Amino acid sequence: MSFRVSHHLLLCATPSKAACCEPAIGAASWACLKKVVKDFDLENPNRPEGVVLRSKVDCLRICQNGPILLVWPDGIWYGGVTPARIESIVEEHILQGHPKNDWIIRTTPQAQQSQSFEQSNS
Ligand code: FES
Repeated sequence: MSFRVSHHLLLCATPSKAACCEPAIGAASWACLKKVVKDFDLENPNRPEGVVLRSKVDCLRICQNGPILLVWPDGIWYGGVTPARIESIVEEHILQGHPKNDWIIRTTPQAQQSQSFEQSNS
């Protein structure tokens, strides 16, 4: 099965060493991300823009002011992503294309990015 991917959201929410956030805030943020992605049907393989993947990761090498959310392929890193911020980021950045500039803590150079990719699942 092959499907188009529009974004991949990588969230350091419940790190094993809890270096970047309170575990309770991380867990709530991850639960919120799962819910919002599902509520907007962003994992639908028939979505014209492509699916939005989400992954909980153990560490994104920032290790402060978390939870940390990396939005790929945009190369935008958000800090302090509470559940309320997760909802705003998905609605305004992912769906409308307007990053939440006040919460961005880092950007990855554009040259390292691509606009979309095909995900193969065999
Ligand atoms: S522990 Fe979250 S970025 Fe390292």
